[in-house]
Amino acid sequence: MAINPTDFDYISKIVKEESAIVLEKGKEYLVESRLMPLVHQEKLESLENLVRKLKAQPRGELRDTVIEAMTTNETSFFRDIHPFETLKKEIIPDLIEKRKDRKELNIWCGASSSGQECYSLVMTLKNQFPVLDSWKITFAASDISNQMLNRCRSGIYSQLEINRGLPAPLMVKYFNRLGTEWQVKEELRKMIQFRITNLSEKWPFMPPLDLIMMRNVLIYFDVEMKKDILGRVRKLLKPDGYLFLGAAETTLNLDDNFERMPYKQSGCYRLKQG
Ligand SMILES: C[S@@+](CC[C@H](N)C(=O)[O-])C[C@H]1O[C@@H](n2cnc3c(N)ncnc32)[C@H](O)[C@@H]1O
Repeated sequence: MAINPTDFDYISKIVKEESAIVLEKGKEYLVESRLMPLVHQEKLESLENLVRKLKAQPRGELRDTVIEAMTTNETSFFRDIHPFETLKKEIIPDLIEKRKDRKELNIWCGASSSGQECYSLVMTLKNQFPVLDSWKITFAASDISNQMLNRCRSGIYSQLEINRGLPAPLMVKYFNRLGTEWQVKEELRKMIQFRITNLSEKWPFMPPLDLIMMRNVLIYFDVEMKKDILGRVRKLLKPDGYLFLGAAETTLNLDDNFERMPYKQSGCYRLKQG
């Protein structure tokens, strides 16, 4: 069912207001495919009726459901692999060396979706760096979507999701079978504090961070919002900390306080030194 231009503009406007996600012209198909299930769920006859209902309750639950439906939650275990190789070979060893006196690491995954990214990182820490078992690790993961955070907290994944990127030895070591699904062991789940955070709004207090993963989320925002978020990341990151962005993202022409690290396709940045 095609969406009319006025309704598309209305949906784009509220999605941008609530999440900073930009829906440019040409993305009508996306709105249609994401919102039609909601039209059926709400027993409405058309997208037009959905928009009418939204306008009648501009601050209601329906608005939140629409925003959730319009977020793209694509993710997988060890997505793109290179960042995780770089973390394993370069970044975590470097941070361990630099923080060996205090034995503390502060980490944030800023758009965790259903959790595969933060669990990939936690598995890397546990599996490759047993020395960290005696360290104080503060690991926060956040997303704008309540639904996604509930999935993160449960740590439950289908066989299909497991098949996307999770090496079998890690599955055996860190997951329990739950019927036809798999659940991350409690030992790992309790290492992460999950909370709702809208990147386009005020962030909760966080200590200065050693490592920020903010992958595959800036691409949805306009230039001003990307600059704003990178500016805030810069203030949160320790001067010798690291930021990971997605493969299609960069700080270039947005914030020249960052420099890209020379690790192949890893999207790893740090603050310019000196
Ligand atoms: C494509 S996923 C990326 C997940 C993971 N970082 C990865 O790279 O695999 C994008 C995530 O960003 C979240 N998101 C979108 N807009 C957001 C916002 N304004 N604040 C926080 N999270 C947002 C979505 O809910 C979604 O889970």
